[in-house]
Amino acid sequence: RPHLSMHAVSGLLLGDVPLNAIADTLGTPCWVTGADILRSRYRELTGAMAEAGLPVSVHYAVKANDHLAVLRVLGAEGAGADVVSGGELRRAVQAGIAPEAIVFSGVGKSEDELRLALALGVGQINVESAEEIVRLSSIAAGMDRIAHIALRVNPDIEAGAHDKISTGRLGDKFGIDHRDILALYAQAAGLPGLRPVGLAVHIGSQIDRAAPFRAAYRRLASLVDALRAAGGQVGTIDCGGGLGVRYRDENGLSPRALAGAIRAELGDLGVRFAIEPGRWLVAPAGLLLASVLTVKRQRDGAPFVVLDAAMNDLLRPSLYGAWHGILPLSAAVAAGPLSPAHVVGPVCETGDSFARDRMLPELRPGDRVAILDTGAYGAVMSSTYNARPLAAQALIDGGRWACIRARQPVEALWRDETVPDWLQRADL
Ligand code: LLP
Repeated sequence: RPHLSMHAVSGLLLGDVPLNAIADTLGTPCWVTGADILRSRYRELTGAMAEAGLPVSVHYAVKANDHLAVLRVLGAEGAGADVVSGGELRRAVQAGIAPEAIVFSGVGKSEDELRLALALGVGQINVESAEEIVRLSSIAAGMDRIAHIALRVNPDIEAGAHDKISTGRLGDKFGIDHRDILALYAQAAGLPGLRPVGLAVHIGSQIDRAAPFRAAYRRLASLVDALRAAGGQVGTIDCGGGLGVRYRDENGLSPRALAGAIRAELGDLGVRFAIEPGRWLVAPAGLLLASVLTVKRQRDGAPFVVLDAAMNDLLRPSLYGAWHGILPLSAAVAAGPLSPAHVVGPVCETGDSFARDRMLPELRPGDRVAILDTGAYGAVMSSTYNARPLAAQALIDGGRWACIRARQPVEALWRDETVPDWLQRADL
């Protein structure tokens, strides 16, 4: 990981900034994001698309990391946004991303959310059902707006990613069955308030082979041919997100390989392209700092290293069995001999585990570690389970760093709760 280095005295650095300095100030657990990494990922991605000669606009999938500072950094690089809720839409606009550069996706959008999207003037709404097409038409017509829509195709492709994040099979809840696209596209074109501009697809996440992308895009290409033969106008194809990264020893998929798949299958259609990458842009830009609370040695098996971070902070290992690298912050600790350890959080569930039998140097209470590649689907999936306040967050930018989210005060956990007055009066 080129952006991480170890200094004999100050310990692990991200860029030029010692992570210990951040932990000393903000405490742990604490998320850290590297702005320079975000920028270089964005440039690598757009560079690969340009190199392939593809007219592509990048709509960053806000769900991966929706912090305003992350949105600002990517927005300043030229990214638009892919949003899946009114909240994400508001965040993207709040961070200064132009509504015309925003795509509104998602399998269930409420009437309020659709109204907000139309009122703000989002560039495109990806519709996912016959029912949504009719509903959006009547809302848009009532507001005297024209919604530019893309039909999200369910291409019936097995993406080979984790089952919980595969989205392109017919049994999944996403998209419109590819066999219904022709009829619905024609229907939408005839409805007031709608202008079908093209097709969209998203087959899953953490995909590390080009083959499923190619199969999905091939399906789209034949749909475009059929739509055009029937007199339909197709100007844009939204190729979705899903580009995999390397957490451990996976291959990941390079933006160049994705560009190659788009070009090979869709390059001759004369359309504009959109992509919706989330993970690939932000995963390697983030890490989670934690401190060792205690080390529990057992009669048999590896010791439990109990951190002050838990599944409520970083859910991916518990939910998907995801593997994340773990590095000590201290050079002296990191230099020690390796032995297996179970790295866990303090939450009262066996599933609250970050790593089993991980080869690590000996860790003692008070030692700090960084859990790596947590910039995507990390802080955004946090909860306050076990009444654990949301962790602090910091941003490193060049040689500077700043706190970008204060640790949630514990009182905030019950600030919006009310105890009914009859219970307040009761004697305890
Ligand atoms: N577009 C749509 C319509 C999506 O549903 C998603 C992700 C993306 C784009 C971005 O996909 P990406 O490039 O990040 O793979 N929480 C899971 C990942 C869930 C992905 C959901 N949809 C995890 O931590 O692995």
